Amino acid sequence: MNAQELLQEISDYCRTTGLAESTFGRRAVNDGKLASRLRHGGRITTETLDRIRAFMTSNGNGVARPAVISRAYDERSSPVAVAPRPVSAPALAPASSAGPLSGGPPGNGPDPQRNFRFFDNRQKYLLFVNTCSEKWVVGNRVSLELHNVHPRPPALSIFDAGVGDGTVLGRVMRSMHDRFPHTPFYVVGKEISLEDVRLTMQKMSDRFMEHPATVLVLTNLAYADAPWLAVKSLSAASSMVWHEVALTGDTSHSFEEQITDLVPFLDQNWKAGVSPKTGNPVYERPVVLVVYREDHKFLLDPIIPRPGGTRAYYDLVIASQPYRARASLDFKAKRVIAPLARALGPGGRLIAIHSHGNDPGHEIVQKVWPGENPFIHDRHQIMKAVKHELGTAGRDLNFNAYADNRSLFRYDMHTLPSEITQESSIGTSTLFAAWNAAIYVAQVEDHRVAEAAADGSYLAATSEVLQKHGALWFFDESYVISRRRE
Ligand SMILES: C[S@@+](CC[C@H](N)C(=O)[O-])C[C@H]1O[C@@H](n2cnc3c(N)ncnc32)[C@H](O)[C@@H]1O
Repeated sequence: MNAQELLQEISDYCRTTGLAESTFGRRAVNDGKLASRLRHGGRITTETLDRIRAFMTSNGNGVARPAVISRAYDERSSPVAVAPRPVSAPALAPASSAGPLSGGPPGNGPDPQRNFRFFDNRQKYLLFVNTCSEKWVVGNRVSLELHNVHPRPPALSIFDAGVGDGTVLGRVMRSMHDRFPHTPFYVVGKEISLEDVRLTMQKMSDRFMEHPATVLVLTNLAYADAPWLAVKSLSAASSMVWHEVALTGDTSHSFEEQITDLVPFLDQNWKAGVSPKTGNPVYERPVVLVVYREDHKFLLDPIIPRPGGTRAYYDLVIASQPYRARASLDFKAKRVIAPLARALGPGGRLIAIHSHGNDPGHEIVQKVWPGENPFIHDRHQIMKAVKHELGTAGRDLNFNAYADNRSLFRYDMHTLPSEITQESSIGTSTLFAAWNAAIYVAQVEDHRVAEAAADGSYLAATSEVLQKHGALWFFDESYVISRRRE
């Protein structure tokens, strides 16, 4: 075995177990600098190699091996759901969506934040996305920003800081084509969830058909790295998977087939888990997937990113629901929005959108949990914190809070005409969908939802609010950070 192979093994072990390389070295062979020595050409004896091996074996090559995540915020942020599918994990209780205490790394107490992260289940998201108009309305709001964008060669560049199921990105790309039909597009989307990457890719074959001059990049990197397609940590960089796909043919059917063929690659590489150290979601390996049309390769050559990192000069950055409402102000500013603002090119615009509350959805939640208010920071507070975080690096940025009538927008639960009236009772599936949307938007932890569901009064509360307003709607709040043009 050469040093490179051993380093790779150590780095895989550390990533899976959440150990720092220095801790690993100290514990295994009493040498905190082991990995860095190897990296710089140091040699070890066979006896040391045996001790390293013995350490890995006796500590279980994946003692706290992460479970597979189905959807997530950024790895250093917040709610995710864990698919009920543990990866071979001897010391890890099988993850399940059954209750707040199961799953997760051993030793987790019933910490509600952790449980929320682990069990914010995918069904809630999919039901919400399909029963409410939010992602359409967000797509439309983001598309309005295209009027203020002035792309420069070689491309119109956009970054989606969490593509989710791809509804927002798909709508924005359609709108981009409408406005800039002959401009090459460089579209980068960050998403840690395998299932969301699949859903997003499914929506892309028609985009390549209508707008052939498109380079689409999906990555699971963190906010601080994703816009640049490069990871700072050396050990992560050594395991980076960079996959380029040139789509052949010229029909959306053939593109769809080739995109479907990517599923095994995605299953194999787009794995994420929960850090046993922090409890936050993390990727197993950093992945960058680059897709474009083979017949446009020559034209797109200056745009196709290459391993080793790219410049981040985005014309538009989309940050739709990029942080957990209850996350700290510091986290929202420092870990999420500030790095995204740094990635703006001259004239570039970052539009951020989060839930606002003060709407019938919030009313349902407050009927069940009086005084509950997850929407603890408004746009003014967040932008002030971002400005502070950026310091002099933010001097050529404009922070646009806008008046409420421009910043706030409403979206609704889809219902049939006259489905909700004061006279007739509301169908159970409509009530369930409304309840789901209310608790989803308010990001109520699963164990609290289970408690409320036990007594059944939540449906009466939902019905009362729906009948009072004749509909269910929510408010989102938006703000824009823009970089001055050169
Ligand atoms: C990284 S994000 C957002 C993905 C994508 N940008 C979107 O808007 O769907 C995914 C998380 O956002 C949260 N989320 C999405 N839409 C939300 C909404 N309208 N209100 C509150 N939270 C939301 C969910 O908890 C979900 O796990």
